Amino acid sequence: MITLDRINDVRAACERARREGRSVGLVPTMGFFHEGHRSLMRAARANHDFVVVSIFVNPLQFGATEDLDGYPSDPAGDAAVAEAEDVDVLFTPSVAEMYPEPTRTTVHVSGLADGLCGEVRPTHFDGVTNVVAKLFSIVGPCSAYFGRKDAQQLAVVRRMAADLDLPVDVVGCALVREPDGLAMSSRNAYLSPAEREAATVLSRSLYFVSEALHHGVRDAGTVTKIIADTVNAEPRCDLEYAEVRRASDLDPIDRVDGEVLIAVAAHVGTTRLIDNISVHVDGDRIDPDLGVVSQSSQSSQSSQSTHATRETAKARA
Ligand code: PAJ
Repeated sequence: MITLDRINDVRAACERARREGRSVGLVPTMGFFHEGHRSLMRAARANHDFVVVSIFVNPLQFGATEDLDGYPSDPAGDAAVAEAEDVDVLFTPSVAEMYPEPTRTTVHVSGLADGLCGEVRPTHFDGVTNVVAKLFSIVGPCSAYFGRKDAQQLAVVRRMAADLDLPVDVVGCALVREPDGLAMSSRNAYLSPAEREAATVLSRSLYFVSEALHHGVRDAGTVTKIIADTVNAEPRCDLEYAEVRRASDLDPIDRVDGEVLIAVAAHVGTTRLIDNISVHVDGDRIDPDLGVVSQSSQSSQSSQSTHATRETAKARA
């Protein structure tokens, strides 16, 4: 693995790889790796000869009051993880390298970027599309791997690539969960032990929804009520939204039918967490995608902290 922090060096390395007939897989990240990130690296490694992972905490996608300054980081730990996942290039640009001047260009994916998380984070997805468009331009023709943990981000990026004819195949990968159901996230490291336990209410609410769907519930209002009632029963959690959306364009829908995204966001203490399931419904047939539970032993700092929390939870139980 080589670590590069200059745009031109990454561009040249990817061009060389393609000239040699190698296919390129890209995994954009903000670092502080956990099993969710690793699963994307493994998917890229399994499908491509040349794997590029970027680590860049992109200031453009953070709102003024958000956690840019405190965003967790572990450069040495991340490099060790990327090395262990057999990554070819770790791209770690500085802010000055990515934004030598304040950017004046915005890629806004209307509709898709506006509801759900876009409602309370109005500039967030424009920041994401800006940096992802730059990464796609730097790396060039490739497949880029994104997690379904951030389902709206995946939909936004996919639509951007399609609308702009970018030579990038956007690949969605399974949401990876902790054994107790919590969706893995770098931000889980912010949670106190008590909050960490409380945070499982998000995934639990979605499992309840999945059961209700199996029992024939199709009304979106009933689904969102199940989520709200479950999350609101946990005093440490403050529900931000519970939504049922058509998967293709994220439009609100009244009935769970076809390809559907069921998404939840909540604050646990001061930490904002999101989770979702996607469901394919065809008449009586229902096929929910709840994600996968991580089987691996923990290795990153974030996982260590959640691991420690799990030990605490076990000790208490
Ligand atoms: P980050 O939060 O570091 O996530 C990087 C990638 O890992 C994203 O595609 C995200 O969906 C995926 N990921 C995170 N948690 C996951 C989980 N539990 N299971 C599966 N995949 C998971 O998302 C970003 O960074 C940034 O917005 C970025 C796309 C890099 C642009 O700055």
